[in-house]
Amino acid sequence: MPAGTVLPVGRIVPPLVGGAARPIRAGDRLMPATVIVGLQWGDEGKGKTTDFLAEQVAMVVRYQGGDNAGHTVVRGDEVFKLHLVPSGVLYPHITSVIGSGVVVNPATLIDELEMLRSRGIEVGRVRVSRAAHVIMPYHVALDRALESRLGDDRVGTTGRGIGPAYGDRAWRLGLRMEDLLEPEIIRERLARALPDKGVLLASHGLPAPDADALCRQAAAWGERLRDHIDDTTTLVQDALSRGDHVLLEGAQGTLLDLDHGSYPFVTSSNPVAGGACTGGGIGPLQVDEVLGVMKAYATRVGAGPFPTELGDDVGEGIASRGQEVGTTTGRPRRVGWFDGVPLRRAVAVNSVSSIMLNKLDILSGVDPIRLCIGYSIDGRSVDAWPSSGAVLARATPIYQEFAGWERPIHDVRSLADLPENARRYVTALEEHAGVPIVLVSVGPERTQTIERAWRPMRHRTPLPPGGGRPAAATGASAAAGGADEPSPSGVARVAGAAGGASPA
Ligand code: IMP
Repeated sequence: MPAGTVLPVGRIVPPLVGGAARPIRAGDRLMPATVIVGLQWGDEGKGKTTDFLAEQVAMVVRYQGGDNAGHTVVRGDEVFKLHLVPSGVLYPHITSVIGSGVVVNPATLIDELEMLRSRGIEVGRVRVSRAAHVIMPYHVALDRALESRLGDDRVGTTGRGIGPAYGDRAWRLGLRMEDLLEPEIIRERLARALPDKGVLLASHGLPAPDADALCRQAAAWGERLRDHIDDTTTLVQDALSRGDHVLLEGAQGTLLDLDHGSYPFVTSSNPVAGGACTGGGIGPLQVDEVLGVMKAYATRVGAGPFPTELGDDVGEGIASRGQEVGTTTGRPRRVGWFDGVPLRRAVAVNSVSSIMLNKLDILSGVDPIRLCIGYSIDGRSVDAWPSSGAVLARATPIYQEFAGWERPIHDVRSLADLPENARRYVTALEEHAGVPIVLVSVGPERTQTIERAWRPMRHRTPLPPGGGRPAAATGASAAAGGADEPSPSGVARVAGAAGGASPA
């Protein structure tokens, strides 16, 4: 056992955090961390939300999931499809962090970094947690094999090895990113894991992994990613201590959460805001804002009950106008009416403080519009979300109906200018949520956003005299209803960037 260090009696231990002690959450010294969380089954448009806020943010942290997710980010004429690297990478002033709660397929990450570099994006600012777990090839093989064995009962996973990788993490049989840096450790970790994997793979008729080949492969990944692997909790904490604004970005959505979603038709991590603490490296009291993101209708990818699912022309119309196709798998997303039942649960378990409502424009021309306000389950009316796939499968929706509106709303920039029926619908959603809808998206471009209340940011850079916006930046903030603001670091954001979002 190491002998340790004994400080002489009477010596004053220097404070861990420099400067005077700070009162917790007092006055203007709040820690500026915002969590962005999906309130539905994923694909709510979190990419656009991050993009919209990116200008004011110094760091974007992805806190869970893996390459099952995806963001489509449009920059001018260019389209970037990202699965692992947070979309903040497209902004020169943002440090992009893949937190410890993420499971990383190193091959995907390397491909994504290469793709970004080849298109002129500086990727040196991408940091990956030492503690993030590695998706190994046998995790992918097992994910696919189990799905095929389950047949009609399958979850409809993305086939990326997510469940088996998180399973090994919990079973203490995983490899972490830091392990990839030491060939000896790789060998030790694989020696723990492979015997059982071999048995499992054999039960599916698959060959046992070649340990030597895997060791070489893992060491090569480590060499390639060495400069990106970091202690991201320290990075995040240092950023917060400096007063930098940190955005913590969830993948998937609350209804796919391992604890709160429609189990077992869920993903294997915690997209809820609590996951931002464990997987992002922050404490609950460091979170200032939780911005919930939802679409004006519902979608779901993969199997599992979906009470408000539409199997008719109305659903097809919404799917085609909303381009509801998974970024990762290319699967068509199932489409349905907005479900208000899980909304309140999602607001509660995430401590949502404000909401961004996306894709309201897609409902133009749909008449009537329905909003699910309760379920009938086994002859009883229920307004609480049953986080059980089996119970949810027996739920029949109870709807409230709204008259629709005809005219396109892409050019609307204030709630007052929306058609009256659209306003009614937004108000009803807000009443169900019980928290304000502060941003409403009416198109994929960043500027196509109604900013109803000022952005949910507590630390705003004071506007210097004369505006101070760098010449290269667009007028997105002003168009969105705010003042013309510079980015906090004074670095121009990428001109013309706009995000859509969307995985699986
Ligand atoms: P897995 O995360 O690949 O294990 O898949 C579990 C379930 O989550 C499946 O129903 C997937 O379709 C769904 N899923 C995973 N990632 C996403 C996503 O990013 N958006 C929507 N659904 C997802």
